[in-house]
Amino acid sequence: MVLNQLTITRPDDFHLHLRNGASLKAVLPFTMKQFGRALIMPNLSPPVTNIIEVWAYHREIMDAFISEEVIFQPLMTIYLTDSTTPKDIEEVKRSGFVLATKLYPVNATTNSAHGVTDIKKLAPVFEKMAEVGLILCIHGETLVSEEFGDVTRNGQVGQLRRESVFIKETLSWIVETFPTLKVVLEHITTGEAVDFVINAREGVSATITAHHLLATLDDALGSHHYKCMPVLKEENHRQVLLAAATSGNPRFFAGTDSAPHAKSKKETACGCAGCFTALHAIELYATAFEEMGAIDNLEGFLSHFGADFYGLERNQKTLTIKREEWIIPTEVPFGEGEVLVPFWGGKTLSWKVDWKSCLFLMFTKHSKMKNNQNLYPHKGCRFLILKNSIKYYFYQYIYRIIIVKLSIHIFWSM
Ligand code: DOR
Ligand code: ZN
Repeated sequence: MVLNQLTITRPDDFHLHLRNGASLKAVLPFTMKQFGRALIMPNLSPPVTNIIEVWAYHREIMDAFISEEVIFQPLMTIYLTDSTTPKDIEEVKRSGFVLATKLYPVNATTNSAHGVTDIKKLAPVFEKMAEVGLILCIHGETLVSEEFGDVTRNGQVGQLRRESVFIKETLSWIVETFPTLKVVLEHITTGEAVDFVINAREGVSATITAHHLLATLDDALGSHHYKCMPVLKEENHRQVLLAAATSGNPRFFAGTDSAPHAKSKKETACGCAGCFTALHAIELYATAFEEMGAIDNLEGFLSHFGADFYGLERNQKTLTIKREEWIIPTEVPFGEGEVLVPFWGGKTLSWKVDWKSCLFLMFTKHSKMKNNQNLYPHKGCRFLILKNSIKYYFYQYIYRIIIVKLSIHIFWSM
């Protein structure tokens, strides 16, 4: 019998880029419509690297749209750099609203110039993360390698091999050296990644995007709008990803990696990397699951496995999708006169989120929200922010006095 409607636990997106300012306001409603929570990536420019910055970013997101009437929770991450210390880890953990850190190898993707140059040097940070229970989310690509000469050109690893070199050279080391550290290999794209995650020790999982389940390298070679990092791979890899996502194995769960870039920035000589899927993420995943005849396993992948891995309660509300044809818009506003081109813009989808269930969720009174410790920094964190701000203003004050004294001295000695 053909299934025409499906009601599932409200899903979570465990990998989302919102940006900030007008762009944030333009894209956030799409995610709020479909998801209960989203893990927000910290690769802003400049990146979100410490407790003060993450608090300010969290505040910006909350102020953008989220009122007492809206049930949506942004889960925060911080960006690891060469200068991250175990003390930073302790501080963000104490804040109570940061769930994970994000490891970007330097220059691997959008806004990763401040990423990590020598991952093994972060050992004390990983150790502290394991100790306090902060999860490590990884952009798993190696750009430069001396060891894997057969897939490199002057030490530069080819785009199609970056993920598998990372797994062999770095991920295996992280997973073995820090046996209690929980690790998420983000947006996996290859059979090697699927094999690694299936056979890894406990506490290792992976997110899979809708675009890696639905498109391949051939699409990317034909249009800037399929350019993303890691790049789309060949059909055989897509088939392995589809099998993993739809298998019901809880190590694989949804992380859209919806990464909005203005159309004007995608359609340039080299084009920004990122597919915008927040608009229609659930429908895209449903399309992929239906391709495998596995729509029954959609709920685990979208709504259960990620929450379980992160140690969060599963969402209590539900979301309904219906069998209904609709055409994905070719453009949506992106603030400040810019537009975004959604992934697969212009194509017809056969599943549609039921707006009635979304509106109900978005406007249901949820008066406990303000008391939710996970949404607002707890007292310890507020104290920390206050302390750091006082320190900052104190140094500014001293600095100004020095400048004034120096100027007076120079003036009188002229
Ligand atoms: O395609 C991507 N875009 N991959 C990433 O890892 C980053 C993202 C972005 O921020 O644009
Ligand atoms: Zn991402």
